[in-house]
Amino acid sequence: MLAAAKPTGSKAEIYGDLALQARGIFEGERDWLANAANLSALIFGGLDDLNWAGFYILRGEELVLGPFQGKPACVRIALGKGVCGTAAARREALVVADVEEFPGHIACDAASRSELVVPLMANGRLFGVLDLDAPVPSRFDDVDRAGVERLAALWLAASDLSTRK
Ligand code: SME
Repeated sequence: MLAAAKPTGSKAEIYGDLALQARGIFEGERDWLANAANLSALIFGGLDDLNWAGFYILRGEELVLGPFQGKPACVRIALGKGVCGTAAARREALVVADVEEFPGHIACDAASRSELVVPLMANGRLFGVLDLDAPVPSRFDDVDRAGVERLAALWLAASDLSTRK
């Protein structure tokens, strides 16, 4: 199950396939960090038109870079700052069609043009965010948001988050 094939079909079918692959990858493994590393690789390899996909983990009042695929990125983002910090502070997913129009957007990679950020909530508490960046505008829609939220939910359910420090 680890040598994942790149899914094809409609956007909904692609996310369905990724969810199936995620279940397989997480099976028998509760380590959240390992599962996060694999999920970022699954997303980055499985979706077209991405230049970055990965995790920021909440430590105190800031988000700290976690497992990701793409170019090296900003390590620390304060809650409420940028797209990631805003989604985290609001505890809601954000789809940004044009990052240049988003006040306070943090340009880690100048190639990024649109962004999707999903907060990771565990037992009502913010654990971090899952962030996807695209080199084209308007890359993400509601199907992407729902698909990535489902992948995030699978990761949360599969992982033991008590070993976070
Ligand atoms: N653009 C993000 C920062 C993280 S990187 O895109 C990986 C933001 O504004 O929060």
